Amino acid sequence: MPAIVLVGAQWGDEGKGKATDLLGSRVDYVVKFNGGNNAGHTVVVGEEQYALHLLPSGILTPGCTPVIGNGVVIDLSVLFGEIDGLTARGVDCSRLVVSANAHVIAPYNRTVDKVTERFLGSRKLGTTGRGIGPTYSDKMNRVGIRVQDIFDPHILEQKIAGALDQKNHLLVKVYNRRAIAVAEVCEELLGYAERLRPMVRDTGLELSTALDDGRTVLFEAGQATMLDVDHGTYPFVTSSNATSGGACTGSGVPPNRIDRVTAVVKAYTTRVGEGPFPTELLDAEGETLRRTGGEYGTTTGRPRRCGWYDSVVARYSARVNGVTDFVLTKLDVLSGRDRVPVCVAYDVDGVRHDEMPMTQTDFHHAKPVYEDFAGWSEDISACRRFEDLPKAAQEYVEALERLSGSRISVIGVGPQRDATIVRHDLLG
Ligand code: GDP
Ligand code: IMO
Ligand code: MG
Repeated sequence: MPAIVLVGAQWGDEGKGKATDLLGSRVDYVVKFNGGNNAGHTVVVGEEQYALHLLPSGILTPGCTPVIGNGVVIDLSVLFGEIDGLTARGVDCSRLVVSANAHVIAPYNRTVDKVTERFLGSRKLGTTGRGIGPTYSDKMNRVGIRVQDIFDPHILEQKIAGALDQKNHLLVKVYNRRAIAVAEVCEELLGYAERLRPMVRDTGLELSTALDDGRTVLFEAGQATMLDVDHGTYPFVTSSNATSGGACTGSGVPPNRIDRVTAVVKAYTTRVGEGPFPTELLDAEGETLRRTGGEYGTTTGRPRRCGWYDSVVARYSARVNGVTDFVLTKLDVLSGRDRVPVCVAYDVDGVRHDEMPMTQTDFHHAKPVYEDFAGWSEDISACRRFEDLPKAAQEYVEALERLSGSRISVIGVGPQRDATIVRHDLLG
């Protein structure tokens, strides 16, 4: 009965939501350990499509306990909005557990996120505008508001006053915005207290006990390796640790309890927001991938930037996360091409790099070195066994497996739960 971490291997939107949902009733707990409602996971169950932002994908599985860990930043209005939306559609959200140590996205942090981006102009990061970065900044600055603070009005008021002290100077004097009143924020956050109280627990203790009792726990990352604040394409990253190490710090479960690490990787690459992307296609091929793959953001609706599979990124992800299995998604989107290029290395100012360049400058200069693989014309969405795939598709998967540094255990051939080829059991 393992503890398994599931991460994104690229720049997000690899299909982590579907991969988590696939494991379904075999998992007792699904833990979100980083990020907040910057995430957007689309999960298709039968005829129903769900867009999840803050809630762990395990919420859709009856009997599974979804956990929001200490590493997450929570926008309480989004939390209850999402719970209400799902409840109205018949999803039971009563098992949700929230860490007392998770940080709260205060309304002023949404404001700071938006005005900072506007102020940066052409140097902006293209954030989701949800207040994620400023809330993690407050956490590291030790002026954050935690879930537990909401149950002590006196402390809450003091902490909000502390956080707003500097921010109001910034908002008024630099950004030319109105000052935010402590009482206004206090009142808003206190308004959630009674509804929140029954969900709040010592989640680190609960998860450790669950593992002692032989339960299966899945730690589900938001965002992805290349958006990780330490290991991604800094500064064009999110503000949390989306790599497997974040599962420990973001949940209170230590590394020696983790048995497996699964990385979800798309059969091509996408990215939302600004920042370097060596295999990006700015031509008609990119537009075709976007159209065929439906590559528009679940959270902001922005068109995703699209490009070919980058095995340098995949190899890097395998190493940084300690990947034991890959889930390769959206192979079906590549059908109908004569050839499928794969980036096998970078050329940086005339020098070949087989590994991720060490510096940001080199990564910005990286030109992909492509190897072409034969394409296939068949619709593969009905394939359920590896042998059912056209020979060229099988060879493409085997090539990615060779180039990416870990076995490909599951292959996605469509958005539905059953549009999946399982080669090795992720929990086995
Ligand atoms: P996440 O953020 O990693 O959970 O991914 P998103 O949900 O943002 O984006 C992945 C999109 O791809 C969703 O719309 C999924 O329904 C869809 N999807 C997942 N796996 C597959 C697959 O194998 N084939 C196709 N065609 N779509 C998939
Ligand atoms: P999922 O979990 C793709 C990107 C934003 C921006 C950068 C910083 O669905 O894979 P932030 O609001 O986090 O400060 O923005 O990170 N980003 C994502 N891109 N998928 C996501 O989540 C993302 N979450 C954040 O577009 O470039
Ligand atoms: Mg997404």
